[in-house]
Amino acid sequence: MPILRNIGVLARCLPGLPQRNCSLIPRAALAWEGEAIRWVGPESDLPEELAGWPAEDAGGRLVVPGLVDCHTHLAFAGWRSEEFELRIRGKSYLEIAAMGGGIARTVAQTRAADTATLVARCRGHLAMMAQLGVTTVEAKSGYGLSLEQELRLLEIYRELNSGPQRIVPTLLAAHVVPAEYRERRTAYVDLVVEEIIPLASGAGLARFCDVFVEESAFSIDESRLILAAGRRYGLRPKLHADQLTSGGGAELAAEMNAASADHLERISDPGIAAMAAAGVVAVSLPFASLYLNVAPMPARRLLDAGAAVAVATDFNPGSAPSYHLPMAMMLACTLQRMTPAEVLNGATIVAARAIGLEEEVGSLEAGKSADFAVIDAESVEQWLYHLRANACVRTVGRGQTIWSASAA
Ligand code: NIG
Ligand code: FE
Repeated sequence: MPILRNIGVLARCLPGLPQRNCSLIPRAALAWEGEAIRWVGPESDLPEELAGWPAEDAGGRLVVPGLVDCHTHLAFAGWRSEEFELRIRGKSYLEIAAMGGGIARTVAQTRAADTATLVARCRGHLAMMAQLGVTTVEAKSGYGLSLEQELRLLEIYRELNSGPQRIVPTLLAAHVVPAEYRERRTAYVDLVVEEIIPLASGAGLARFCDVFVEESAFSIDESRLILAAGRRYGLRPKLHADQLTSGGGAELAAEMNAASADHLERISDPGIAAMAAAGVVAVSLPFASLYLNVAPMPARRLLDAGAAVAVATDFNPGSAPSYHLPMAMMLACTLQRMTPAEVLNGATIVAARAIGLEEEVGSLEAGKSADFAVIDAESVEQWLYHLRANACVRTVGRGQTIWSASAA
């Protein structure tokens, strides 16, 4: 039952406020007991009964809720740096996919990798994310694309979820149609609907069902079928929508009452209105836009229309080969004109909402999980403006210290 004192500024990131308000408390203290937050407030208001708890000193630094990376493709084998160069030389993401590269290449490498190797790689990535202040990670399957392989990736996520970092599993069997089904795509959609979804759900291996809605992946009609099947089995819809082409994905997300629609670089005006009206969280993935060299999601227009906008990494070996969430947050400020406060909410409470965990994580309030990061900066603005290799000096997840710069 420690108490963190001498916090320069604490950002609570409370739910239900306008996204521009990250509910700051200057000169704050934070007390936790076991896995849960017991008290948060101005240090001068510290209740008498807590005054004798063992104290730790935050050194006047900034404290924020543990960051929530609400969109990653965590488990994969290999990398695709040669595609990075091909794109620099002018080939498009779709041209590279047509040449046999892209997602299909990572699928082949992931299928061939043994489970222990995949687990060890995920653990390595998660440890680096913890150092950056990330305590919750949504993780998609999608590089297996067969019943056995998709379930194997989800089982890896279940194993990884046993520690102080939370892993939230999403089934993305509808990432692309795998090569062996190219001439009979309906059979693959049937496999997803009739076998993969029921078995993943039956085994309690996924919370969400995601579809890559795109000309080169799944059509609106196929996606509707898959998302509806997921919902029948208790998996909430999520969509990769309007990334490379504007195809009505945002409208479908609104129609399906999805938890989130992600990417949205090419979202239409009716799509913006539909998302705002339906309360679907828009997840901005600035790395994917930057690495593919396309204009990012119009986050400002979404926010001004009343939609909530989360910020995540999209960590994957193709379009977003980085798990540096604070850097993605900085890019959301500069490329998308989101304010630092909007971005911090976007990577905490709004991101938690995008993965249905807003009751447990994403804000600093009594009763919530004791997940927080101590940032060596005097304000949210200073943190996101002065990008350093790592400004996070301590990360606590479920009440346990999972990263400490002083111990390193
Ligand atoms: O979110 N859009 C589809 N899926 C990933 C890319 C995956 C890959 O290139 O391997 C994305 O950008
Ligand atoms: Fe993605």
